[in-house]
Amino acid sequence: MTSQQIELSSGTLHVEIQGSGSPILFVHGFPLDGRMWDAQVERFSQDFQTIVPDLRGFGKSGSVAPGEVLGMDRYADDLNELLDRLGVTEKICFCGLSMGGYVTWQFWKKYRDRLNSLVLCDTRAVADSDEAKENREKTAKMVEERGNDPLAEAMSPKLFAPQTPSDVLSQVGEMIREASVGGVAAASRGMATRPDVSDWLGEIDLPCLLVVGEHDAISSPAEMKEIAESISGSRFVEIPDAGHMSPMENPKAFNAALADFLS
Ligand code: MLT
Repeated sequence: MTSQQIELSSGTLHVEIQGSGSPILFVHGFPLDGRMWDAQVERFSQDFQTIVPDLRGFGKSGSVAPGEVLGMDRYADDLNELLDRLGVTEKICFCGLSMGGYVTWQFWKKYRDRLNSLVLCDTRAVADSDEAKENREKTAKMVEERGNDPLAEAMSPKLFAPQTPSDVLSQVGEMIREASVGGVAAASRGMATRPDVSDWLGEIDLPCLLVVGEHDAISSPAEMKEIAESISGSRFVEIPDAGHMSPMENPKAFNAALADFLS
């Protein structure tokens, strides 16, 4: 495994790279970091090159200026630059969860020549409602005033299936608490600005896997099935005993679905 700090034209991204072969880029959700993909790295680095960044402001990546708003296209630009700096010329499989999925849509729009397939996990295609946008601003202000602890408490009940083991809850709580306040606020405000991409779905002509936890309370199986139905030839898999964090909650079923798709 190599851990690297990569200098971009502005800021620094942390990335973990393991294995060799066709590259898979794993992009984490909000407000987490690349560690959420540990079970996938362990399995897929045997046959692929796994590239797992921490998005700007999260994990060990560089900080974000106070008051900055990071649109999903900014993260996509960072990842494109990261792949350039790493010298990745082979087409990649882009696998994003939730906010990582919002970034996937933007990456596909801007950099589709870099892609050979897409994996969208527990994510949405629609924009935020007005109420959700207001809540994003409340979240940003809350962490700026009180730190990430109240966010970890507020998010936990929405993220998991009832049967999810407590060590997964603790790992996720730890990632939320360790995220930088500036990164969380910038991403929260950035998600509020993201567009509805439903009209793009019919244009996607790459092999595409859509994965959702059966108990996902944020991006429901019904909503993800609708996305799958709009992407011609895509595959839809519901993961049992999992909520919004399906790759962590049921890594066995998640990895089986991903392995099947990649083969
Ligand atoms: C995530 O897991 O990235 C978030 O739940 C996305 C969101 O809040 O819309």
